[in-house]
Amino acid sequence: MPAKPHRTIRLKDYKPASHEIDSVDLDINLEPEKTRVTARLKMRPNPARETLADKLVLVGQGLELVEVKLSGRKLGAKDYAVTADSLTIKAVPEKPFTLEITTICNPQANKALTGLYRSRDMYCTQCEAEGFRRITYYLDRPDVLSIFTTRIEADAEAAPVLLSNGNLVESGKVGKTGRHYAIWHDPFKKPSYLFAMVAGKLAHIRDTFKTMSGRKVELRIYVEPGKEDRCGWAMDSLKRSMAWDERRWGREYDLDIFMIVAVSDFNMGAMENKGLNVFNDKLVLASPETATDGNFESIEAVIGHEYFHNWTGNRITCRDWFQLCLKEGLTVFRDQEFTADERSGTVERIAAVRGLRAAQFPEDAGPLAHPVRPSSYIEINNFYTATVYQKGAEVCRMLQTTLGLDGFRKGMDLYFERHDGEATTVEKFVACFEDACGVDLKQFMLWYSQAGTPELVCSLRYDTKSQTAELTVEQSLSPSPGQPKKKPYQIPLRMGLIGSNGQDIELQLEDGSEPRDGVIELTRAREKIRFKNVPSKPVASLLRGFSAPVNLTFDQSVEDLEFLMVHDSDLYNRWQAAQTYATRVIINSMKSAKATTQPGLELAMALRHTVSDESLEPAYRAQFMSLPSEPDLARQIRSNVDPAAIHEARDRVLKVVGQELAELLQQLYERNRAKGTYSPDAANAGKRSLRAAALSLLVRRGLPADITLAAKHFGEARNMTDQLTGLGLLADIAGPERTRALAAFEKQWSGDLLVMDKWFAVQAMSDLPDTAEQVEALLRHPLFSLHNPNKVRALIGSFAQANQLNFNRPDGKGYQLVVSSIIELDGFNPQVAARMLGAFRSWQTLEPGRRKLASKALETVRSHPGLSRDAYEIVTKMIGSEE
Ligand code: BES
Ligand code: ZN
Repeated sequence: MPAKPHRTIRLKDYKPASHEIDSVDLDINLEPEKTRVTARLKMRPNPARETLADKLVLVGQGLELVEVKLSGRKLGAKDYAVTADSLTIKAVPEKPFTLEITTICNPQANKALTGLYRSRDMYCTQCEAEGFRRITYYLDRPDVLSIFTTRIEADAEAAPVLLSNGNLVESGKVGKTGRHYAIWHDPFKKPSYLFAMVAGKLAHIRDTFKTMSGRKVELRIYVEPGKEDRCGWAMDSLKRSMAWDERRWGREYDLDIFMIVAVSDFNMGAMENKGLNVFNDKLVLASPETATDGNFESIEAVIGHEYFHNWTGNRITCRDWFQLCLKEGLTVFRDQEFTADERSGTVERIAAVRGLRAAQFPEDAGPLAHPVRPSSYIEINNFYTATVYQKGAEVCRMLQTTLGLDGFRKGMDLYFERHDGEATTVEKFVACFEDACGVDLKQFMLWYSQAGTPELVCSLRYDTKSQTAELTVEQSLSPSPGQPKKKPYQIPLRMGLIGSNGQDIELQLEDGSEPRDGVIELTRAREKIRFKNVPSKPVASLLRGFSAPVNLTFDQSVEDLEFLMVHDSDLYNRWQAAQTYATRVIINSMKSAKATTQPGLELAMALRHTVSDESLEPAYRAQFMSLPSEPDLARQIRSNVDPAAIHEARDRVLKVVGQELAELLQQLYERNRAKGTYSPDAANAGKRSLRAAALSLLVRRGLPADITLAAKHFGEARNMTDQLTGLGLLADIAGPERTRALAAFEKQWSGDLLVMDKWFAVQAMSDLPDTAEQVEALLRHPLFSLHNPNKVRALIGSFAQANQLNFNRPDGKGYQLVVSSIIELDGFNPQVAARMLGAFRSWQTLEPGRRKLASKALETVRSHPGLSRDAYEIVTKMIGSEE
């Protein structure tokens, strides 16, 4: 195999397109195996072009070319050239012209789920990032914006519903052929990746929304017939999203109709196509019986996310795919703010930070590390990453923290004003904040170009005589692939100093000024910040609300941590103090496994105060008592990680906490029983999560009574949240209760594929020793299919990404199992296969035995003949290139 069979695309090579496309008329004639597409493109040379526009190169993949016409004239074979992924028209006039291209594609055979494909009986499309080229030859790049008119024709019985972007302008029968058509027109210019088309037997629910300027918008959610009664929450979430975007950002919806379609085979979560969002059905369908509180919450967040893209992504899009964070990071930030406003701000912040640390920190510390705006890629689908999304969101949040809410809003307003209708860049985005607020963000830009998580090392000195407290902060930045040396960042450090009475001391800097909202802007590799008029030795609360995506090292005593757990006015940092404390206890207990004292006794005492504080929200208290996960602990250990040792130590400590707090936990369990009918709102969900957290700690004791209680929780459940809590706990306990519960669940839900995903996942996440064998057997379960990405994520994804213990089994069985599924999957769905490979991203931190086995597994993938470009890029970066 050649050293590098795939081309690397680089940001620095960006060139404007040779042509503009004024309008696109698509004619899509649907047939399962032979769909005929005619595209009529009105084109002209691009005034911004840097090359000649005397020929035209369009991209296309998997297309059968039928005919090309240039300004009405049919071209002969010598007038154009076709390769596996392009169509070149050898001579085009340097003035406006029309090009008419007819091609045929095969939706039925499309198992990659990008371009035009079939999900069950439905036809649907997924064009981001580069799927449109599988529908027709085109300038399939985000900086080519055009007006789309789409005519869809299909068998009226097989596909009674025909949808595309924009407004419906015409529909009717096609003579007596039994076929019918619909014509949709989207008045907004858009890049091809936002194109969508759906056709099939679909039912829908409808509603309306009145915008702030008084326009009435028709809202529709389309689903498989029979599922209409599970769309209510999605519709409710949509209306609240629309209202929130108006309230918080002054942004109103712009078409007369907004549609969402739920499909069951979908590579991602959901897609923001203009006016026609396409969703993975698990992010639309919900009823109390079939969806957990967590599902309801994700539905709300993702409906919000895709809706918010209408302004951040669609109206203003990306010049090129390197700018992906411009829409994704910003839109994740917006959806997080939406959730924070709709629910509890602190609980949402904790969830976002947990997610960032679980997914992004390891990415940033490993072989796949890349900046929020990468500078090169082989396959763009591999760059829809935690870094682009979650760290990208943190970068927006830091801007908001640095500029203040009002300053940030001014910058956003300017961004919408300046760039509406454009495809733009990160520089242009940041310039809006500089101009709106009169600040210099040159140093801040480093957040977009440097990879790796900065380390902040802090220390605090107090001087009684002068009543000053001095904080020393050092930034250190380890090298990452391609970036050996780094410059210091601008970091907003939100902080407080707490007096012995538990109250915040007013922060006063040396020059007498007060930091706004307690935010100090760090800019140098090492700096000292002096606070005056500090009457007594304070306890510092640093990085409040996790004001920057950094690793903080601050030498705090156990007493200080206990103090913060009770007194910090910043609830996020109270939670953080508990996490830090618990991490210390668990890691210490690993080092001295034979210690005589029971590890976790003091931790239990320290947790008690906040967990039992009835003035705090139940959801928050549930988070407070959810101690660091196994990957959290592995991240702190950093090298020579032994997942089994971590698992044991964590188990030991949790058991002590469960025993020590048993009485309190039982009370919480009893007193937070939900009354009345199920409601998915944050307050009710919070109560259920507190009960679940209490039950889970109780069960840690392993007493027969606890197992009975878990079985009872499962058996008496009236909603999926409780049912799955019970099942999840029993899944870790070998015995008849487990067997019975799994069988009962399967029997109850075998007719519902979405619910069965939970059944697969729960078994894949079990810590029992034969889990790998169970997963292997489940791969052959009649309801399992590698062709359905949700199934792949439920079984293989849960095992590889949420079961550190068994995926990393010391005999390598976990790796082999995952790798052989990935290789099979890569044969038809490279995008999802490459994503699954991410499970190996931290393999170099493992202890030598496992490291060797993981490396061998990765080699098996790399040497597989016919490996996709997607998997190739990930696996070679993961192993480390030998160039
Ligand atoms: N634009 C993406 C969907 C997408 C990603 C399409 C990659 C093609 C390739 C969409 O807006 C998105 O970000 N979806 C997320 C969910 C979101 C809430 C973070 C997803 O699908 O996971
Ligand atoms: Zn998105």
